[in-house]
This record gives sequence, C-alpha cells and structure tokens, in this order.
Amino acid sequence: VAGDEKELRAPICCILGHVDAGKTKLLDCIRGTNVQGREAGGITQQIGATYLPAENIRDRTSLKAETAIKVPGLLVIDTPGHESFSKMRSRGLSMCDIAVVVVDITKGLEKQTVESLHLLRCHNVSFIVALNKVDRLYGWKECTNAPIVEALKKQSDDVKSEYKWRLTKVVTEFKENGFNTAPYYENNKKKKVVNIVPTSAESGEGVPDLLLLLVRWLPDIITDKLAYDDTIECTVLEVNEHKDLGTTVDVVLINGVLRQGDQVIVCTKQGPVTTIIRDLLTPHPMKELKAKGAYKHHKEVRAAQGVKIVARGLQYAMAGTSLIVVKPGDDLRQAEAAAMQEIDMAISTTDENEKGTTTQEVSSIMTCKEGIYVQASSVGTLEAIIAHLKSSSVDIPVYDWNLGPVYKQDVMKASAMLKRKEEYAVILAFDVKVMPEASALAAESGLKIITADTVYRLVNIYTEHIKGLKE
Ligand code: GTP
Ligand code: MG
Ligand code: NA
Repeated sequence: VAGDEKELRAPICCILGHVDAGKTKLLDCIRGTNVQGREAGGITQQIGATYLPAENIRDRTSLKAETAIKVPGLLVIDTPGHESFSKMRSRGLSMCDIAVVVVDITKGLEKQTVESLHLLRCHNVSFIVALNKVDRLYGWKECTNAPIVEALKKQSDDVKSEYKWRLTKVVTEFKENGFNTAPYYENNKKKKVVNIVPTSAESGEGVPDLLLLLVRWLPDIITDKLAYDDTIECTVLEVNEHKDLGTTVDVVLINGVLRQGDQVIVCTKQGPVTTIIRDLLTPHPMKELKAKGAYKHHKEVRAAQGVKIVARGLQYAMAGTSLIVVKPGDDLRQAEAAAMQEIDMAISTTDENEKGTTTQEVSSIMTCKEGIYVQASSVGTLEAIIAHLKSSSVDIPVYDWNLGPVYKQDVMKASAMLKRKEEYAVILAFDVKVMPEASALAAESGLKIITADTVYRLVNIYTEHIKGLKE
C-alpha cells in the first residue's frame, strides 16, 4: 500500500470561484488554520500553495488504514476571486491538474464562477463543485465535520426543501453554462457528469466527502498527467524579503526535482539572472506557503510542492515567470535566451477576450505619455491594479511601472508628471516598501506616494486625492 502511494506525483488542485464564495475559508477548514481571518479586507490578493499529505487527508476522511490513496498528497492552489485578478486565476489554473469550483449555495453561479468555467473549458481541466455555505440554510443543524449525507439526514423538512430547490437552481445554472452536474451521492456517471459536493467551511460538513473525491476519484481520471517526469517545471509566485534569509522566492514546483546547489535562471525586468540555490524551504504540511511561519529545510524537493528558494540575486525576479534549472552540459547562453522569451511573454500577454487583437497589457502602458506610476510586489498584483485602473468605472492611464521597493529612481521617473499633468504626479505602491530616500525626495518635489493594503483601497485613495485637487 505504502509503495502504491509513491508512484504518482501529488496532483495540483486549483481552487476557483467568485469573490467570497469561501475558497480560503474552505482551505482553512481543511488545514485547521486561519489564513482568511488575517487577509487585508478579507480578500485574497496573491496565489497561495498548501501541501496536504495523504496521511492528513486520510485522517480527515476517516478512510481505513488499509485503503490505498494513490497519490502522496495534494498541492492546493488558492486563487483570488476579485474581478481584477483574472490573470492570476488563469495562471493558477495553468499549473493545475484538477480544480474545485466553490459556489455559495445562497447565491448560485456568479460572474467569476462563469469566468472560471470558461477557463476550465479552455484548459480542459476536470473539476468538482463545492456548493459551500450549507450552514446558511435557514435552521441548519450543525453536524461538525460530518459527511454530507449524514448531515442532511439530520435536518428538518424545511431545511431539506430549501436545500433541494437551491441545489436544483444551481444545477440549472450549470446546465445553462453547458455543464451537466449532479450531487455526487446520486451521480452514477462520474466521468460525464460533474460532481457537486455540498460543504460548510464554517462547520466542516461535506469536507470529508470533498477530500475523498479529490484523492480517490480524480487521480483515476487523470492518471497519465500524474506520472513523474524529469522535466523541471517551476513557476515563481512571489519575491519576499526575509529578515534572516535575505531575498527568497516562493515557487510552485510543478514537475521534476529541485536540489541545493542547482544553477538556476530567474527572469527580471532587466534580463535573466543566473544564480545558485543555497537553500530549499517548505512550510510544514497543511500550512500556507505565503503565510510567514516556520519552514523545513531540504536538500532536494520533489514535485508537486510549494517551495521557498534562498539564493543571491533574486530580488528582481518577476512573479509569474518560470524558474529555469541549468543542467550540467546545458548551454548557459541558450538557457538565458529561453528565459528572455519568458520575460517578453510575462510583460506582453495576450488578452483572450479581445479577439485577434494582441493587447500588450503591461508594456503598452509604458508608452502612455501622461499617466500615473504603479509599483507592486509581483507581476500578478501589478496586473490586477492595472486591470482595475483600466476598467470603465475607473479609467486611469498608467505612465510607467516597476516591481519591488520604491527607490529614488522611481520617484524621479514619476516626477516627470509634475510638469505635464499634476493629477498624475503620483506613485501607487502596493505591498512594497517605500525607501526613506524615496519618501524624502517625493516630499521635497511634491510627488504623492499612495500605499494601501488592498488593490481597491489603493485606487480609491487616489480617486479621492484627485477630487481634493479639483476642489
Ligand atoms: P476571495 O479570496 O476574496 O475571492 O474570497 P474567498 O472565496 O476566499 O472567500 P473567503 O474564504 O474569504 O470567505 C468569505 C466570507 O464568507 C468570510 O467572511 C467567511 O467567513 C465566510 N464563509 C466562507 N465559507 C463559509 C461557510 O461555509 N459558511 C459560512 N457561514 N460562512 C462562510
Ligand atoms: Mg480567498
Ligand atoms: Na474573501
């Protein structure tokens, strides 16, 4: 049995859904953590990664010890549900083998649920629906962590009937979007009909069922995708400054093995940077990679896993690009050229929604002669801010952008607007440090630096600032 569990790599499972459907809360319920409670504004703004080992999943599902789990564990990727983060969702999904679409039972399918379904169809990814917040049904009797069929039996006729009509409504909405769905406990055609698992992230009903489906059923239908492969596939999620470790990058290792001492290439706005992996860290099992906690050190890490890499020269690595490993005998020049292509792709992605037109989402904004300056901690959040600025309700042009801390040079660049258009003489800085020299120079020259902990607040503060200027 134990041997069986090691043959396949851990599937990567993406959690998708509309804002506030309960994606993060559902993961908290599985992990026994409180990530959601600590998020600024209660919203997720960066992709997360959590490794759930098979044994922990077994505990939660009360599977018998002799029952084989075919995978060593699950790597779960949390994504933001807010509209502006569509690029991040798409990136999250592109790493995944399977997905869970979380739907709020009291709301049914919403705008980003439908967007998720569109993405899943494009990428041809199998998924399960978690029909969440069943505890919100009026009069619900809590049955902590119970399998859903058991919990439903204990409910009054009123609750059962509300559950029935809400479920029917959701099934109809899925049908309207081209998907046949059924509650999993009544689903005889699991290969053709998408499973719905009713859940509560608050009291845990249905969570064992969801985990069981993920580890027992899904690996069967995607076995070929889960065979180990030597090719290293690794995506940078985020760059962090750690007080003891220095600069680190969080990556998702999708395929292959990373080792201490590996020569790797990361992409930066200035070009490829080649460096050596000094240390490989993972959070403890069942903990979120992006939540700053204690780490385990490793000589090597096998896919799939969320990993924190310690190495010199990482400070300008761009989130969303690949980390490339240079194997002995590889041509370094060639590898760096491949990395350069990555950079071009990262900063000039094509918008699928605008048929045929290649919109250079980030780089085209540089050519705008009058506009504000945006600075963010990762490509993903930068994209989200720019998407929000470009939306019709806001519609603010961007002059230039940068990643990482705000330095004097950024202030100098942004100050070009002081002479051209005063209302644009501003830096919107999200989740980055503003260096003291930069603040001082900005104060001296009259440039405004705005910081906030959510993308939406950041832009709101700016629009308020403009109103103030005009009055
Ligand atoms: P974004 O990351 O912002 O897209 O949202 P999300 O889908 O991760 O939702 P989140 O986990 O932030 O939950 C949103 C709100 O719903 C929070 O206040 C949760 O406490 C609440 N919530 C989530 N799941 C449940 C549930 O099953 N029952 C109840 N009663 N509340 C829930
Ligand atoms: Mg969330
Ligand atoms: Na939320």
